[in-house]
Amino acid sequence: PLIRREDYTAPAYTIRQAELCFDLDAAKTIVASKLSVQRDTAQDKQPLRLHGEDLNLLRVLVDGQSVSFRHEDGQLVIDAPEADAFTLEIRNTIAPEKNTQLSGLYASGSGLFTQCEAEGFRRITYFLDRPDVMATFTVTLRADKAKYPVLLSNGNLVEQGDLDGGRHFAVWNDPFPKPCYLFALVAADLVRREQRVTSRGGREHLLQIYVKRGDLEKTEHAMNSLIASIIWDEHRFGLPLDLERFMIVAVDDFNMGAMENKGLNIFNTKFVLASPATATDEDFDGIESVVGHEYFHNWTGNRITCRDWFQLSLKEGLTVFRDQEFSMDMSGSASARAVRRIADVCSLRERQFTEDAGAMAHPVRPDAYQAIDNFYTPTIYEKGAEVVRMMHTLVGRAGFAAGMKLYFQRHDGQAVTCDDFAQAIADANPGSTLATQLEVFKRWYSQAGTPRLQARGSWDAASATYTLTLRQHTPATPGQHDKQPQLLPVRMGLVGHDGQAVALQLQGEDSASGTERVLVLTEAEQVFVFTGVTQAVVPSLLRGFSAPVLLDDGLSDAELLVLLAHDADAFNRWEAGQRLAVQRLRAAVQDGGAVQIDDTHLAALRALLLDPDLDPSFKARALQLPVQTYLAELITPVDPQRIHAACESWQDQLAARLQADWATTFEAMQVREGYRPDAAQSGRRALANLALAMLVRQAVAAGDPVWPGRAFQRFKDATNMTDRLGALEALVNAHAELAQPALERFLALAGDDALVVDKWFQVQARAAEKDGRVFARVRQLLQHPQFTLSNPNRARSVLSSLVMFNPAAFHRSDAAGYVLWADMVIALDAANPQLASRIARALDRWTALAEPYRSAAREAIARVAASTRLSGDVREIVTRALDAA
Ligand code: ARG
Ligand code: ZN
Repeated sequence: PLIRREDYTAPAYTIRQAELCFDLDAAKTIVASKLSVQRDTAQDKQPLRLHGEDLNLLRVLVDGQSVSFRHEDGQLVIDAPEADAFTLEIRNTIAPEKNTQLSGLYASGSGLFTQCEAEGFRRITYFLDRPDVMATFTVTLRADKAKYPVLLSNGNLVEQGDLDGGRHFAVWNDPFPKPCYLFALVAADLVRREQRVTSRGGREHLLQIYVKRGDLEKTEHAMNSLIASIIWDEHRFGLPLDLERFMIVAVDDFNMGAMENKGLNIFNTKFVLASPATATDEDFDGIESVVGHEYFHNWTGNRITCRDWFQLSLKEGLTVFRDQEFSMDMSGSASARAVRRIADVCSLRERQFTEDAGAMAHPVRPDAYQAIDNFYTPTIYEKGAEVVRMMHTLVGRAGFAAGMKLYFQRHDGQAVTCDDFAQAIADANPGSTLATQLEVFKRWYSQAGTPRLQARGSWDAASATYTLTLRQHTPATPGQHDKQPQLLPVRMGLVGHDGQAVALQLQGEDSASGTERVLVLTEAEQVFVFTGVTQAVVPSLLRGFSAPVLLDDGLSDAELLVLLAHDADAFNRWEAGQRLAVQRLRAAVQDGGAVQIDDTHLAALRALLLDPDLDPSFKARALQLPVQTYLAELITPVDPQRIHAACESWQDQLAARLQADWATTFEAMQVREGYRPDAAQSGRRALANLALAMLVRQAVAAGDPVWPGRAFQRFKDATNMTDRLGALEALVNAHAELAQPALERFLALAGDDALVVDKWFQVQARAAEKDGRVFARVRQLLQHPQFTLSNPNRARSVLSSLVMFNPAAFHRSDAAGYVLWADMVIALDAANPQLASRIARALDRWTALAEPYRSAAREAIARVAASTRLSGDVREIVTRALDAA
C-alpha cells in the first residue's frame, strides 16, 4: 500500500505515558504495557487503532475492564471507550531469537537489543507507532542475571535489584516525552568504559560505552569523540547535554550505522571499536562522525522530532550537516577542512547523484512511499544536508545560528515539518535572500533530480567587462516531469591566466565585493556582468560545491589547468583536476582505446604531487580518479567494462610515467612518530598508500619484483591497520603473486575480530577486476566458512562490495553478476528485508546501461519481481526499477 504525504492527519488519540514491563527471554519475552491514552476531542469519535506486527496478543484491558477488539489491516482496533482519557493495558509475547529482520527486539550473540526506527516498536508491542505521538516512558526490565547482567533502557536508572530464581530487574525512567521510535532496551553481558564530565553550566553527566568483554581497549576513540561532540555542540550551537546519563552500546548485528535512541544510542560495532592495529584512519574518522551524528540528534531529532516520516530529512539532513561541520572543525587546518568537503562531495556524487538519476529518485521530502525503510537514503541524508548547507550559505554563519535558536524557541518538544525549519531560519534572517525567496528555495524539498547548471562567460576587452550567463534545468524524474528553476547559490571568483584573483564588481552595484562572492540564481537564465575586468579570466564557479548540481562550464583543458594550478579555492582546484581526468576518460571510453595523458597535463599532475606547500591528503585526493559509479553518470550510455578499462589505463600511465616521483613520495611520506588518527598523519599515510599502489602496479606490469617485495614487507611490518591494509590492497589490486600469502597471513592475524575479518572479505570483493578473477573469487568467498548472510556487516563486506563498489566485476557480459544478485536478493529477503532491499538497489540505474548489460539486468530484476514471497521493501525497489523503463 502506498502511503502519501498529503494524507497526513493528526492522531485521533495520543499516548501521554507508557509503563512497559519486560520479562526478557530470547525464546519468549513477555511485554506488559500500561498506557495513558487521551482522545483528541476536537476530532470525531473513532475507534482506537494500534499498530502491531508479529505479536502474540494475550489480553487487552481498558480502565481495568476487558474489552472487545479486532484485527484489521495489521492493526488492533478497539471501539472508542466512553471516557476521553483512559488507561489501556496490553499483554503480549514476542520471540526475539526468531527476529532475523533486526527490527524490534532481537538477539545478537548472547544479548538482546532493539532497533525501533522507523517502525520497529510495533514489533515489540501494540502502540501508536508514529513520531507525532510522544510519551514519557517508565521501563521495567526483568531477566536472568547470569545471562543478562546488564539491563539498560532510556533515561535514568530509578531502581535495580535481585529477584528469585537467579533473576534481577532494573527500572528506568525517561522524563523527556518521546516518540516510540526512540525507545531502546539492551539486556546483555557487557563491560563498559565510563567517564564523568561537567558541562558549562556546572551540570554533571555520566558517559558510558558498553561493549563485549575484550573490546574495552577499543573504545577510547569513541569516548573521546563523544566528549568532543558534547563540547562542540555547546560551543557552536549553544546546545548542552540535557541528560544525566548518556550511553552508547555496540552490537555486532545491526542493519545501519547507529541509532540515536534518547540517552541510549545503539551502534554497529563498526562505528565504536577502534585500535590502531585493527582500524584504519578512515574507520577512526567514521567513528568520530557517527558518534557526533547520533549525539547531535539529541537536539535535532529527539528534542525536536518529525511530524511524520515524510519529514525525515528534517532531522537527518540537518544532523548530517551538523556532523559534517563537526568533522571539519575537528580536522583543524583550512586545507584539512577542504579535504573533508571533498570527501563529502565525492560521497554525495557517488551515492546521491546516482540515486537522483535512477528509478528511486525522490525529493528530499518524498511524496509517497511503500516501505519507509527504503527512504533512509542519500537523498534524505546527504542531499538534505546540502539543502541545510545552502541555507547556511545564504544567511551566513551567525544568521544560521540565530535561525537555529529561533527553531528551538518555537519548536522544542514538538514534532514538526521541514517547512517549520526553513521558516525559522528565514524568519531569523529577514531581508536575506532565503527569506525573500523562501518559496523558490523550498523547491529543494519538493523536486527530485540533480539540477544542471550551465555557465558561459565572455570577456570584452574594449569595455573591460566579463559577462557570465547562468542557465539551469532539472531533468525529469520518475513521476515528476516538469521542474521549475531552483535557487542556486553560486560561490565564485574570477582567476586571471596568471593565477591572480580578480576583484569582483557587479554592474549595478555600488562597491566591489572582494575576490569571491555568492551569485544567486533563481530563474532558468540570468546574466551577471562584471566590470573593470582588464584581462581574460577563468571563472571558478560553485566554490566549495555551494550547490548540489552538475556543472557544465565549458572550460577548455587550458583553462582547467589554470584552475588546477592557481585556484584560491582548494575544492575547485581539486575539481579542475577531476574534470581534466574525466575528459580523458570520456574520450577513451568513446573510442574504446587507451587513455592519453598529454605532457602538459602530466606535468601539472607531477607539479601537484611534488608541491611542498600542498597537504598530502589533498594530493592523495587530487591524484585519484572519481569512482567508477560516478563516472558512469558522466559517460553514458554506461559501459562498465570500458569505463574500468579506461581507469586502469589512466592509472597504468600515471604509475609508469611518474614512477620516480612516486618512489620519492613514498619515502617522504613515512610517518615516524607514534600512531595518531589525526588529519596530518592520516594524510601522509593516504599519500604513501597511493604511491605504493602505483609503484606495485608499475612493477607488476614491468615484471619487476622489487616493489611487490617491499609492499609485502611493509604489510608484514606495519604497526597500524591503515598501512597494513594499504599494502595488502596494493598487492591484491595489482594481482601480484604475493597477494595470496598476504591474504592468508591477514586472515590468520584477524583471529576472531569480526571487523578485521570483514576487511579481509572486502578487500578481495572490491579488488580491481581482471579477466573475471575477482568475480570468481567472490563466488568462493560466499562459500567460505567465515561468511554468513545473517550478519549485515559480513554480508555487505562481500555483496555490497561487489554490486555497489565493483562495477567491473559485477556488470559482466555473461550476466553472471546479475544472476548472483537476483539469487542473493531473494535469499536475503526471506530473513532481512531491509538488508535485501539495499542490495536490490544496485540495479537502480539499469536503464542507463549499454547493451548487453541493459537487457540482462532487466531480466534479473524481472526474475526478482516475479518471486511470490517478496517483502514490501524489496517489492517497492524492483517495481520502481521496472517502471523506470
Ligand atoms: N536515525 C538513524 C541515524 O541516522 C538511522 C536509523 C535507520 N533505521 C532504518 N530503519 N532505516 O542515525
Ligand atoms: Zn541520523
